[in-house]
Amino acid sequence: MSTGIGELDRVLGGGMPLGAAVMIGGEPGIGKSTLMLQAAAGSGRRVLYITGEESPAQVAMRARRLGVEKAHVTLLAETDTGRITAALDKILPELFVIDSVQTLFSAEAGDVPGTVNQIKYGCYELIDWARAHNVPVFFVAHVTKDGSIAGPKAVEHMVDAVLYFEQSENDLRFVRASKNRFGAVEEVGLFAMQAEGLVEITDPTAVFLVRRSGGMPAGIAAAPVYEGSRILMLELQALTVPAKGGVSRVFADRVDSRRVARIAAVLEKHIGPAFSSLDIYVNVAGGMRVADVGVELPLALALYSAYSGRPVPSNLASAGELSLTGELRPAAQFDRRRKAAAALGYSRFIGPKQVRQGEPSPEDWEKTESISEAVRRVFGTE
Ligand code: TYD
Ligand code: MG
Repeated sequence: MSTGIGELDRVLGGGMPLGAAVMIGGEPGIGKSTLMLQAAAGSGRRVLYITGEESPAQVAMRARRLGVEKAHVTLLAETDTGRITAALDKILPELFVIDSVQTLFSAEAGDVPGTVNQIKYGCYELIDWARAHNVPVFFVAHVTKDGSIAGPKAVEHMVDAVLYFEQSENDLRFVRASKNRFGAVEEVGLFAMQAEGLVEITDPTAVFLVRRSGGMPAGIAAAPVYEGSRILMLELQALTVPAKGGVSRVFADRVDSRRVARIAAVLEKHIGPAFSSLDIYVNVAGGMRVADVGVELPLALALYSAYSGRPVPSNLASAGELSLTGELRPAAQFDRRRKAAAALGYSRFIGPKQVRQGEPSPEDWEKTESISEAVRRVFGTE
């Protein structure tokens, strides 16, 4: 079942599977209720929207703001799972939304509302109903900054997919799956929150790039990153400073810090910068987390640039994996990375000599064997 929201459908693996239970978590205020109301309306189906936090009047006001007040969505303010199930039996919706699981109360799970037991039991009953009627359900769950609320965690294993709604530094919202029985977990759905609700960003290639007037500072390298099914152009930023207390440390929460440490070690071994006496900071502009191994070459260039104080030319992008021996290895989707970079004005592209077996080859790029050769090409030094 399509939610009418392409970005959400894609993260789900091609729409909402019938009879599936999907949890969507995120911090309060991120836009979960907005997304769910837009999806409820966008599905074009008969939907029951159960609101445990806001009054139907508040939700209706949001619907008017979003311009979806004519959709076939019935609002019900209810927290008691017994009464929710009775309403489901009566209305027989084609999709239903529980906003939020933290408000669920089941008389059969003890007296205290809001306990983990209540949430688990309530979700269990509702998932049961969804399965039996082959109707999909969305569960909204609040998660605090440190992700510590026990409730949603307790539900994660019961549902078919777990989506998280997050916010980037430049105020973009992204939805990504941390578990998905129906599709890849690498897909990222991108939105901007505007006066008329969440607006999809369907061509995200350039949204994370930092626009600069004037020259490039040292420590920055452009990287076409393969996330899910798409290429995003990101900017990797590195900074090196003398290690405090004599022990070298890596501070990187957007790229695996072990990967950063390994690449610094390869640079030190094959080119010479003494990273072992430095603290290394790595960031990805815009706030995306990057798991793609194809960023190893641009990451190495950003590190070398930070260390040497020499900027990477602003028209240069790169992609490739780096082996411990200092050799460059092909990254997946090399041709698409090359094209995405070229489309955004990166006229130079450095990568390994070959593409992956079976993949199309770009017309032209700077074929490079090793990290030493790449550093020579980019910085003109030994
Ligand atoms: P909301 O969906 O209520 O967040 P959640 O359910 O995750 O707590 O909305 C989050 C914020 O978005 C809210 O502070 C107001 C803002 N907003 C807009 O900017 N435009 C809109 O059209 C809507 C509906 C909300
Ligand atoms: Mg809400």
